[in-house]
Amino acid sequence: MAKQGSCLLILALLALTTAAAQETLRGVAPQGFLIGTAVAGGGHHGVRDPFRQDELYRQVLAAEFNSVTLENWLKWEEVHPVRGEFDFGPVDEVLAFAREHRQAVRGHTLVWHNQNPTWLTEGTFTPDELRTILREHIHTVVGRYRGQIDRWDVVNEVIDDGGELRDTIWLRHLGPGYIADAFRWAHEADPDAKLFLNDYNVEGINRKSDAYYELVQELLADGVPVHGFAAQGHLAIQYPFPGGVRENLQRFSDLGLATAFTEVSVRMVLPPDGVPTEAQLERQADFYRRLLQACLSVDSCREFTVWGFNDEHSWVMTFFPGQGAPSIMRGDYSRKPAYYALLSTLAEGRLTPQGAAGLPEPKPEPKSTGAVRGTPVIDGVKDPIWLTANEIETNTWFIGTEGATARVRTMWDDDRLYVWAHITDGHLSKVNANPWEQDSFEIFVDQNHARTDFYQPDDGQFRVNFDNEQSFRGNASSANFTAATRLVDGGYIVEAAITLDHIRPEAGLMLGFDVQVNDDNGAGFRTGKVTWHDPTGASWTSTANLGVLRLLP
Ligand code: XIL
Repeated sequence: MAKQGSCLLILALLALTTAAAQETLRGVAPQGFLIGTAVAGGGHHGVRDPFRQDELYRQVLAAEFNSVTLENWLKWEEVHPVRGEFDFGPVDEVLAFAREHRQAVRGHTLVWHNQNPTWLTEGTFTPDELRTILREHIHTVVGRYRGQIDRWDVVNEVIDDGGELRDTIWLRHLGPGYIADAFRWAHEADPDAKLFLNDYNVEGINRKSDAYYELVQELLADGVPVHGFAAQGHLAIQYPFPGGVRENLQRFSDLGLATAFTEVSVRMVLPPDGVPTEAQLERQADFYRRLLQACLSVDSCREFTVWGFNDEHSWVMTFFPGQGAPSIMRGDYSRKPAYYALLSTLAEGRLTPQGAAGLPEPKPEPKSTGAVRGTPVIDGVKDPIWLTANEIETNTWFIGTEGATARVRTMWDDDRLYVWAHITDGHLSKVNANPWEQDSFEIFVDQNHARTDFYQPDDGQFRVNFDNEQSFRGNASSANFTAATRLVDGGYIVEAAITLDHIRPEAGLMLGFDVQVNDDNGAGFRTGKVTWHDPTGASWTSTANLGVLRLLP
């Protein structure tokens, strides 16, 4: 009896620990809320680059956060080291990682007084030249990541602690108008990105945040495209917690702006042995919790980003000698009380009843499937290799509720994506002149998986009717599409190959992907339109709602 009891107890404990192990910050966060982190690399990290060198770092990064900010790689000295020459390599690496793990990306930063290259700080330029340099920088960087970086810290730390515009190379040579210009240029380069002001010591209400409150109103009155105000959130437990944090977010929010915490760290003066006391860890957890609670209690605050998640890699020890341990995990990734404070606060969710008002309708998680690796012959005959492929079905109706449907399998190799579709259709027709109103099968591919509400150059719509007559939209043409069709009992087969001409396919990569069946049941026009995932009917013009296809090893 006793033995049985202890067995049960062990089972219960096991269940509990596995359940706990599955909980992550991003997993418990309210719908649409961004829980982010800076991705270490560049700056003080030097050659200690955990993003590239530490597999556990990458696992935790992917598992815990749904948003990332590059800690340094978009700063001028990293991305624009030589005049007119850009180094996008590390940025692209992080963006590929983010895409793979379905993480949003915050851009940091376009205008700052630190980490500027010497060609810029020591060069002699006329104001006009400097203006051109700044404009071109912003256009180049923001334009390149249009559709991939959805928020930008356009200007960083442009007001000093006294509440005056900070004395920087930009203010000295361009005058105060550079702030408005920077926002306008960023908006030109990506009209969909949310553009923020960002600073430290502006969490609560104080002279500096008052100055921002003034500045922002001027910008808005001038029609400048500024969309958000962000407080970095670098705090220290030897000081009081800032006063009026919620009220501060609320007043910017009342101006119609988004608000956010973008770089939260909570440092402390370390004891001689370097190990924080329990009391210190509790106070730190309390600071994290209160900042997050303030954010969750204001509608417009939908992002809480920490400036690194691992004590060992933090910027604090380099910049505040004697202080440290500012993160939510220790060097060995063990979770500190601050981590659990964020976890439970996120799980509690929005803190006011009106909190959900104004939030965009939560999107359903897209369906996903995996394409196996292999190369079939495109002839409409089912090579045995197709038997190893996963099958999906069209069952999301946009026109009609019944009619022709498809069972679809996918495969990939170094060059192409392959699709096998068995369409069940009792009555074949192509009498309508519009190809989309004929009995036909469509494939949508968003190669860079940017999920934009317009077609980017890599996005294509491939359509083929039961007679193998083809039609295309976007990045789709007979040059990158081969298909074979075959009539079978009660329907037809489509076997197709699409050249992946905008990406280098590799295992683990995710693409936006969907299929659609158009049905003319004899009426002479389209009576049925059914997709695998996209419920909006708009996949011919938007990739935002496609399903997800993962390339399996
Ligand atoms: C810091 C980085 O964390 C370091 O790696 C780098 O050496 C210096 O900059 N406010 C900001 C961030 O806006 O860009 C700073 O990041 C920290 C303070």
